Amino acid sequence: MKRVFSGIQPTGHLTLGNYLGAMRRWAEVDQHRADALFCVVDLHALTVEHDPARVRRLSRQAATLLLASGLDPEACTLFVQSHVDEHARLSYLLECVATDGEMRRMIQYKEKAAKEAARGRSVRVSLLTYPVLMAADILAYGTDEVPVGEDQAQHVELARDLAVRFNQRYGSTFTVPRATFPKVAARVMNLQEPTSKMGKSDESGLGVVYLLDETDVVRKKVLRAVTDSGRDVVYDRVERPGVANLLDVLAACTGGDPEVLSGEYDSYGALKKDTAEAVVEVLRPVQERHRELVADPGAVDEVLRAGAERARAMARPTVDAAYRAIGLLPAL
Ligand code: TYM
Repeated sequence: MKRVFSGIQPTGHLTLGNYLGAMRRWAEVDQHRADALFCVVDLHALTVEHDPARVRRLSRQAATLLLASGLDPEACTLFVQSHVDEHARLSYLLECVATDGEMRRMIQYKEKAAKEAARGRSVRVSLLTYPVLMAADILAYGTDEVPVGEDQAQHVELARDLAVRFNQRYGSTFTVPRATFPKVAARVMNLQEPTSKMGKSDESGLGVVYLLDETDVVRKKVLRAVTDSGRDVVYDRVERPGVANLLDVLAACTGGDPEVLSGEYDSYGALKKDTAEAVVEVLRPVQERHRELVADPGAVDEVLRAGAERARAMARPTVDAAYRAIGLLPAL
């Protein structure tokens, strides 16, 4: 059976982009067809200025939302990254294989470092080495496939490169993973700024649909989406990014095809209205289940405890093998 691993950062409230690009596929497909692990990657949330209490709260909320979106602890392993020491142990070894130049070429590093600098903050070393920790997350589990949105492609590519390099230098230790992407909505864009990704840490939040937004707020955000000049509904991600984004979201929510759907609309208004309703319908069951789970925090804790125990047992042999291969004296 294939091994699948993916993760989500508790750096903000989870968005429709997270859901359509990643979480929904984890629940509907990946957990049933593979030996799958899903991780709330809290160590990654410490790479930019953070509030400790908020990270703790968002970690619990992310785990709860993952369960609410259909992850079944009987079918997959759900856990929190910092509960399994193997991630940090392996990350250091991979830092000894990765190069400084490789890190500085990462698009997300450049973007996030520029953002921190613009806010007058210094850049944490961990922001630079973030992709190495992500590679450790993936490689510790002998992962075959990493289901992610498009924005993570470069990071998964780095994990592949590090696996190959380590294996060549120190002997075959890691499985070489590959990224998989959803057919539609691999990159959901900000509704107010359709040339930028819909991200958790957007300042105003107007262009971002959060999974826990009230129904009225969801409707308002979609109905106020920025569309392009012109009036005909065509699917063109380069020339008409606003309309294309709505068509992508509608297609992802209804199981349709954005190109085909474009032929069914002759006004932006009708497209927005149907997209708003489709998003509301997709979020409704997730929000209902979330409400139930919040009422029973002990159950979520138990899922995370058992998940970490299983994950630890899976990661330890691979990470121990990497310690031996790279030349460290085994502890007695
Ligand atoms: P994160 O927390 O930013 O996002 C979690 C998942 O959601 C996808 N995603 C999107 N997909 C489509 N459209 C969007 N607007 C959108 N926004 C987010 C992301 O591609 C991702 O799949 N570095 C990772 C977390 C991570 C990880 C890992 C992932 C850490 N270790 C190991 C896979 C394997 C991140 O920041 O994801």
